[in-house]
Formats: sequence, C-alpha cells, structure tokens
Amino acid sequence: MDKLEEIIREALSLFASIDDAVELEQVKARFLGKSGALTDLQKGLGRVPAEERPAMGVKFNAAKEQLEAALTARRDAIQRKKLEAQLAQEALDVTLPGRGTGSAGLHPVTRTLERIEDLFHSLGFEVATGPEIETDFYNFTALNQPENHPARSMHDTFYLDDGKHLLRTHTSPIQIRYMEKHRPPLRIIAPGRVYRVDSDATHSPMFHQVEGLWIDDSVTFADLKGLIAEFLRRFFERDDLKVRFRPSFFPFTEPSAEIDMSFGDGWLEIGGCGMVHPQVLKNVNIDSEAFQGFAFGLGPDRLTMLRYGVNDLRLFFENDLRFLKQFN
Ligand code: FA5
Repeated sequence: MDKLEEIIREALSLFASIDDAVELEQVKARFLGKSGALTDLQKGLGRVPAEERPAMGVKFNAAKEQLEAALTARRDAIQRKKLEAQLAQEALDVTLPGRGTGSAGLHPVTRTLERIEDLFHSLGFEVATGPEIETDFYNFTALNQPENHPARSMHDTFYLDDGKHLLRTHTSPIQIRYMEKHRPPLRIIAPGRVYRVDSDATHSPMFHQVEGLWIDDSVTFADLKGLIAEFLRRFFERDDLKVRFRPSFFPFTEPSAEIDMSFGDGWLEIGGCGMVHPQVLKNVNIDSEAFQGFAFGLGPDRLTMLRYGVNDLRLFFENDLRFLKQFN
C-alpha cells in the first residue's frame, strides 16, 4: 500500500504545481485515466487475498475522492487567477483625471440666432426655413429683381455648374416660398446661411441672415420701426441704443430702408427692410389691395460683433478655438 500513498503524494504535488487548465487535465489522465497510475494499481486488486479486498477497495475509493477534490480545488484556483489577471489588466482607475477635460459650447453666432428666435417668438413670430441652394426664380425673379440687376452677376453670386441653381444670396426667397403656401395674416422669421462673393472685416462669403415678414390687412411702416427698435432694445438689453433708419432701395420693398447701429466712431449696417412691394404680393397671388405688410433681413453675424465687441467678422468663421472659447 506504500505504492498507493506514493501515487497520491506525487499526484497532489504535481497538481499544485500546475497553473494551466489544459495541462491540469492532461496530468489528471496520468493518474485517473484508463491507463493512469491509480487505475493500473487498482487492476492489481485481483491478486490481493479476498479478505483484504474490501478494505483495499475503501482505500482506493478514498484516494480517488481525494485526488478529485484536489483537482476541483486546483481548477477553481486556476480559473480565479486567470480572472484576477484579466481584471487587473482591464482595470479602470476612475480616480484618474480625464484626458479631454475641455467642454463643448455653442458658437457665438448660434447663440445669437437662438436669442433672436426666442425674442421674436415672444413677439408672436413663427420660424420658417428654406433651401440654401435656390433657383434664380426664388432668389431674384419672384422678388422683383430685374434681369440686369447687378446682384445677379457672377461677381456677386455663387452659381452652380448646372447653370440653373445658385447659393441663395439672402433669406428673402423664404418669403416667397412661405407666401406660396400660406395666406395672410402671417408673421414669420426665417434664419439661415447665405452666400456672396464678398470678403473683408465686415463681409464674409458665407454669413447668416434672419428674414422677417409680417403681412396683415393694416400693418404699417411705423409698426416696422417700432418692432425693430423693440427687438434691438431687448437683444442688447439697453434702452439707449443708437439705431437709425437710412432711406435705401430694394426691388422687393417700397419704401425701403437700411437699419444701422452705432459702431466705433461710425455706423454699422445690420439689416435692410421695407414695406413689401405690391408686385411681390401679386407674384404669390396675394391681393395687394386687401393686404400689406413689411419685411426685413437682419445680419446676425454683425449683431454678434456688436454684442461682444469683435471688430472682424471673419474671426467667427476661422474656427480658431482660442477665439471661440472666449464665448463659453
Ligand atoms: C438683403 O440681403 C435684403 N434681402 C434684406 C431685406 C430683406 C431688405 C427684406 C428688405 C426686406 P443686404 O444685402 O443689405 O439686404 O443684406 C442685409 C444684411 O446682411 C446687411 O445689412 C448686413 O448686416 C448683412 N450682410 C450683407 N452682406 C454680408 C456679408 N458679406 N457678411 C456679413 N453680413 C452681411
């Protein structure tokens, strides 16, 4: 029986030395498999005297149980070690500082647009939109712009290669699109991007406009002036704003005016406006005897310049984070 004890000792020490699950099963076979050491020894049981056999059988069973128990413990230990190693490798230290600690923020012009929408919304205006790629009809013709008007030239307008489309040069085509689908009374603003062949400190080739339109049976130029003044006072949160209306010309309004605000030593034009031309109303089948109203087109980029004291409009569109971060 010394042999049995020897096998058990050898098996136990081997099991304990193994760290790999597959290897452990191979070693198990060497002892408990069909031709394993313990199995071999058990086969010799037949030669033992009959009266000793039951006691020997008990010993063999006990030995097998002992080895099985040792294997199970070792399997668990190997599995646990593997899991711990994996957890250690994939560990997250939640106390480390984050890598990207900067927070995102809204572009200053977006802030202005949201502010304009909120203010006009509180004055009863709906928001309308239209496409940035327009046809000559909506951008010019329907707005009473004659064929030979200089704004139609390639010097001022970005045309698409198909010869039929252009990048809208103002948000006024949205007036037409809206009036084609809605009957007065109507009161909308229409914010959006517009494009012109233009670039200097107060002109960017891509910029924003907010169109406004109010058509009803008795809307007057005085209402227009009052509304713009009220809007600007609320926008800049100042009652002593210097705003002036300067006589001007737009083919789609009559009379027309430019809206200027004081800027440095002079004035900065922040928008155009006027009473909607009867021909424009006719173009969208609205009875110009029964209805009248006004329209305006504001430059929110310039309002942003004035609000934050920025002196070059192009800075807003260069995407320099050092500049943009100052607004958040
Ligand atoms: C127009 O675009 C007219 N559609 C406005 C209008 C609407 C008049 C409805 C009457 C009725 P104007 O070209 O003046 O007008 O442009 C309006 C405003 O857009 C300007 O006052 C200015 O604030 C802004 N603006 C014009 N060009 C640029 C530019 N290149 N970069 C930044 N802002 C500009």
